[in-house]
Amino acid sequence: MSLLTDYYGVALAVLSLVLTLIWYLKNSSSWRYRNLPPGPLGLPILGILPYLDEKNPSVDVLRMSKRYGPIFGGFLGSHRAVFLNDYDTIKETFARTDDVFSDRPRIAIFELYSDGQGVACCYLENHWKEQRRFTLRALRNYGMGRLQGSLRNAIDVEVSHLMTAMSKIKKPFDPRIYVESAVCNITCKMVFGRRYEYEDAQFTEFLHNLEKIFELSGVAGVVNYLSWMKYVPFSGYHALGDCVRHLENGLFTKECEEHQKVFDPNRSPRDLIEAFLLELHKKQQEKVENNGEDMRPTGFNHQQMLHFIADVFAAGTDTTASTLKWSLIHLMKFEDEQRKIQEELDHVIGRDRMPSLEDKPNLPYTQAFLAESLRYGCAGPLGVPHGAKDDTKLRGYDIPKGTVIVANLYAVLYDPKVFPEPDKFNPSRFIDEEGRVKTSLIERAHSQFGIGRRQCVGMDMALMERFVFITNLIHRFNARAPNGPDSVTIDARGGLAFVPMPFEMQLTER
Ligand code: HEM
Repeated sequence: MSLLTDYYGVALAVLSLVLTLIWYLKNSSSWRYRNLPPGPLGLPILGILPYLDEKNPSVDVLRMSKRYGPIFGGFLGSHRAVFLNDYDTIKETFARTDDVFSDRPRIAIFELYSDGQGVACCYLENHWKEQRRFTLRALRNYGMGRLQGSLRNAIDVEVSHLMTAMSKIKKPFDPRIYVESAVCNITCKMVFGRRYEYEDAQFTEFLHNLEKIFELSGVAGVVNYLSWMKYVPFSGYHALGDCVRHLENGLFTKECEEHQKVFDPNRSPRDLIEAFLLELHKKQQEKVENNGEDMRPTGFNHQQMLHFIADVFAAGTDTTASTLKWSLIHLMKFEDEQRKIQEELDHVIGRDRMPSLEDKPNLPYTQAFLAESLRYGCAGPLGVPHGAKDDTKLRGYDIPKGTVIVANLYAVLYDPKVFPEPDKFNPSRFIDEEGRVKTSLIERAHSQFGIGRRQCVGMDMALMERFVFITNLIHRFNARAPNGPDSVTIDARGGLAFVPMPFEMQLTER
């Protein structure tokens, strides 16, 4: 036994030595770059990871930026990283048209999700521009950002189902699964062309799988930066990839095959799978007309279709659901705000019909509440990391190729120069003296969707969902915390995403 322990100890010591040596060699490459951004040196192997509160890393990043400036550097485990800490710096970096900062870094999460394919996880060289353009066009053709169209219908139908389901519950309940089901169903309708009943076993399993992916993405938060963790059993590293593959090879493949059987290239696409099949068909036609040669390199193939679907679900469901859960929390915590929205809805819409998207311009306070809730909840405080495509410069600093670039969106949304007293929930900050919304300030709150060339392509969809969901709920019901507003916590299950803790809500018909 003691011999075994000795061997174990020696093996650990050797492993630590090797890892320290690797870290040292990586770090010592700094001499090649004369003017790296300033920042804490960090610890061997872990870099600055131990300085970041696991629950709330963005606050620590902001604290460090007070010492080192809006651009500072450090090692996240074995990866060189640069942190951007105000709106202008992020905009200047991520809006660069040479796309040198538009890549995704080579970290575990992107590798595991789709090996750098798909859209949200797509490396530049895997036809990111083509895939992003296609996704944006497909979402708009489906009705994103429009008053009429399939998306609007899908949202209206789903919210109506949700209201019926919620109206049957007469005691305090946990609304999270309802919110997740409704949001996921809107995406199902858009991607597959169908929605599911909330009790459907296949749907419940799908939701469970998505939830597991989000949970494991949290694990990948640390694993992302400690690449050797992939060799550590039970680190959760491979579980995330397994989970995504389970969905891709199961439900997504089944849906794609069923769509393929009835696909008609002469018909306008009815959902996102048909839109992808049509694009694939066009590329194949082009190739035939070009004597079997690709006209130009393209990312459209069957494998990419599965990654595309996975990305739309992964990027669009949990994010939107989280922001909606935060809004429910804010409605219960700040009852006065709920009352003000209800007064506005009663005044503008009356009690005889439900609110709809057309009403939005006439509801400034409601818009202000939604923007403030998005800002205050700050569901994705560190956004999605970018990567430097080549060796480059940023405000005079050397940025080596492959550097992970992190935009601290929390710093933008809690910037006291733009949002005075940022820790106070105050929708009125978005309203001017004439009672109109301050559009430019609302746009700033939308930094939650990222800034620049990789900004969220589903932003308008999420905004539509948020508006219809919250206005319909509050017009029909009073939403109260069973133990009063003071019992409502705004603490989050922290990490990369800021997800609300479990909570209960009591609805009564108005
Ligand atoms: C409130 C809800 C949402 C939030 C807070 C959110 C936030 C974000 C953020 C921060 C990014 C990364 C930006 C960057 O890399 O700089 C992103 C990217 C993305 N989002 Fe969203 N998102 C939401 C909803 C949606 C929805 C509904 C969809 C899909 C229909 C979607 C699809 C995507 C995609 C495909 C990308 C990748 C874009 C690219 O890499 O070029 N998102 N989102």
